[in-house]
Amino acid sequence: MIFGRIKSLDAILATAEKKSLHRSLGAFQLTMLGVGAVIGTGIFVLTAEAAQKAGPGMMLSFVIAGFVCAVAALCYAEMASMVPVSGSAYTYSYAVMGELIAWMVGWALILEYAVAAGAVSVGWSGYVVGLIEHTFHLDIPNLLTRGPFDGGMINLPAMLIASLVTWLLVIGTKESAAVNAVLVAIKVSALTLFVVLALPVIRMEQFTPFAPLGFGGISAAAASIFFAYVGFDAVSTAAEETKNPQRNMPIGLIGSLAICTVFYILVAAGVIGTVGAQPVFGPNHEVLSPGSAALSQQCAALAAAGTEAVTCSKEALAWTLREIGWPQIGNLLGLAAGLALPSVILMMMFGQTRIFFVMSRDGLLPAMFSKIHPTYRTPHVITILTGIFVALFAAFFPVGILADISNSGTLFAFAAVSIAVMVLRKTDPNRARPFRTPAIMVTAPIAIAGCIYLFFSLGMETKLMFVGWATVGLIVYYAYSYKRSHVGRGFDETHEGDEGIPPIPVPPVN
Ligand code: ALA
Repeated sequence: MIFGRIKSLDAILATAEKKSLHRSLGAFQLTMLGVGAVIGTGIFVLTAEAAQKAGPGMMLSFVIAGFVCAVAALCYAEMASMVPVSGSAYTYSYAVMGELIAWMVGWALILEYAVAAGAVSVGWSGYVVGLIEHTFHLDIPNLLTRGPFDGGMINLPAMLIASLVTWLLVIGTKESAAVNAVLVAIKVSALTLFVVLALPVIRMEQFTPFAPLGFGGISAAAASIFFAYVGFDAVSTAAEETKNPQRNMPIGLIGSLAICTVFYILVAAGVIGTVGAQPVFGPNHEVLSPGSAALSQQCAALAAAGTEAVTCSKEALAWTLREIGWPQIGNLLGLAAGLALPSVILMMMFGQTRIFFVMSRDGLLPAMFSKIHPTYRTPHVITILTGIFVALFAAFFPVGILADISNSGTLFAFAAVSIAVMVLRKTDPNRARPFRTPAIMVTAPIAIAGCIYLFFSLGMETKLMFVGWATVGLIVYYAYSYKRSHVGRGFDETHEGDEGIPPIPVPPVN
């Protein structure tokens, strides 16, 4: 029965008190956490893919994706302030819609966080390889810098950065948050410099035709560029490590999203207005998908003819600056991306490990996942395990595919939270809500409809991947987690390790 195992909110809050992480983050640090998690590969790299799908209409795509995120963030903020514990959408769903839905949400969040961390690692690799090649006039073989779907064999730089970030997380949140703050400053400065240099040389004729591939193209680009906004909810996964979460969570969530939206729209306008953002078509004017071999070939042909396009670039913003006469600053921006994108990987992996931590604390994943390191006080076992998977995704898959897959999981989780917040208003109307979503009965349905619309605007392969992933999730749930769930076994709170919990009946092995 779907709604059979509901974890009470009081138990969730009690559990958090019992096995809690150290509370050290304030409103400013949370906002920085949000900006650190949000601005990244989406704007630095996927802008080129969005242009290929929508042309200048990608500005509208940024607005649509940002709008869906904003309404979802308003729902998140109510939940985050009301249930200020780790686990984000997973925890909220557990309290409102029961264990099965919570499990599915947690399972989808693996796509959101771990796969996204892989995507950003690949985006980082593109910028760093480009920077090294431009600065030292080297040609690093694609074989070692791209995955097998992208004309290479293994993306070693992407693997390397994922491993480095894993190490930072293992040695502790506090140090990691400090590193994050510096990198956020670099990233924001780089984007500001881009906007300051690009906006004054915008030409209005670059904005026409505005939607060369129609509204379908704009929707498809919105579904992909949605990735650029993913991450603000990583803020809510840090609730247990937040001082005065009732006040600071909503500030962190909405503040970081607002800062990012303004940047994206300005940067997109800067790219379109200066170098143009019309899609590259095939020799017979056929539409070419980003990341396809056909587009790579067409790009190579254009490059040979001396007419490159931003949609062909793996480092769109640096490329744009070089094109408009700022080659050194273009390289500097590449350096900034190289230094700053790891902060996004860091936050994504941070979110992932905290979700695994909470799922393990609930008995749905092995107890060893929630082990805390005696010196660093971090969940080191699950951090290392997550790091291994992220490094593998990064090594073998292209950025666009990873980003789209990540989006499918995120949209599912956002829709679940939006439903949960509405349901909770009905089932638990008297619980204190330090932050109330304005016009919830309008906002939440818009958020849900927006998530469904963006999900169906993703490519068919991505949607099928999501269905496959969800099926595996169901199998794991019924084969492993269902029997071990603390709630299912009558424990409405968790304990240190498994002490006091009756042993799980082991089926006979033939
Ligand atoms: N929003 C993050 C990025 O753009 C995931 O890279």
